[in-house]
Amino acid sequence: MISKKVTTLEAFIVQQQKKFPTATGELSGLLRHIVLAAKIINREVNKAGLVDILGAAGTDNASGEAVMKLDVLADNELISALKISGDCCGIASEENDTFVVFDNEEAIDAKYIVCFDPLDGSSNIDVNTSIGTIFGIYRRISTSGKCTEADFLQSGRNLVAAGYVIYGSSTMLVYTTGEEVNGFTLDPSIGEFCLSHPNIKTPENGRIYSINESYQHRFSEEVNKYVAYCKVEDKATKRPYSARYIGSMVADFHRNLIKGGIFMYPAMTGYKNGKLRLLFECAPMAFIVEAAGGKATTGTKDVLDLQPTELHQRCPIFIGSPKMVEQVQFFLDNADVAPGSKTAAEQQLKSAPVMAIDG
Ligand code: AHG
Ligand code: MN
Ligand code: MN
Repeated sequence: MISKKVTTLEAFIVQQQKKFPTATGELSGLLRHIVLAAKIINREVNKAGLVDILGAAGTDNASGEAVMKLDVLADNELISALKISGDCCGIASEENDTFVVFDNEEAIDAKYIVCFDPLDGSSNIDVNTSIGTIFGIYRRISTSGKCTEADFLQSGRNLVAAGYVIYGSSTMLVYTTGEEVNGFTLDPSIGEFCLSHPNIKTPENGRIYSINESYQHRFSEEVNKYVAYCKVEDKATKRPYSARYIGSMVADFHRNLIKGGIFMYPAMTGYKNGKLRLLFECAPMAFIVEAAGGKATTGTKDVLDLQPTELHQRCPIFIGSPKMVEQVQFFLDNADVAPGSKTAAEQQLKSAPVMAIDG
């Protein structure tokens, strides 16, 4: 029996659309189709443990059908759902070298394009660790006909909506159109995403830092100083912080969004722009974090202000609780700061970035 009011994602999308009397319903239609693909991906992700019985990716399953890698399967599901939605004229995804034009009659003149990472953290699939899907929706720049590359090369400031699905201990969809960030948990028994985390605001400050520290020897001195700072004991600023790194951006980001923290994938030797992709990972997450009161920087500018020049462009990212992002920025901007010592300036934490100045 239902004992209290439940808002399904479906109902929520309708409510949101009603707030804009001029809305045509195309964005709602698009979101619905992303949700549909997410449910299918979720079903397949949940079966991943059965590969030994049903056949591993790249082999034939018991029925003699080829088993697809899950990231390819997720990519295909999103592409076909978006294509049939009729509300999207093309997509770009981490799994495809170039963008895909939808030139079927109902889609060719549609006004949105979608960029996505169909399966993020895919190295974690085989070990039952949280993975995700990330998406960003833009209004096309061209006016009609086949979409062009310029439709995809837009800065994150132009995002109309962005979100992610986390396939974790439960499956959640978190999305925003730039105002509130709302989270919906999938109730598998009824197959519905239900509003569980309304109006998410990320804590101003946090105690978690997430970075792959094994690359320390390849990071800049400034990044290493900030990481060292995270580990210094200091009651006033609740350090040392805790290190948490799953290796799925979606999962690391989601935890930090709720609990407060910072996720970093900086530039490093061999990856001069870091590893993560601007259009498929960084910009959508930056859009979400800003709407939740957080910040995201490349180290030199807000991630949302970075103008892409190619589809698979990468960028360094420092993203999370605003005070923590300000703090790492301070280290990035001040090469001569020592991480270890406490000073009066450090106690300015409440109103300004924490300053850890030698002395
Ligand atoms: P993907 O599975 O889509 O290729 O993304 C993996 C990304 C991201 O999710 C994660 O934060 C990062 O790669 C981990 O990289 P490292 O193993 O280099 O730390
Ligand atoms: Mn990814
Ligand atoms: Mn991926």
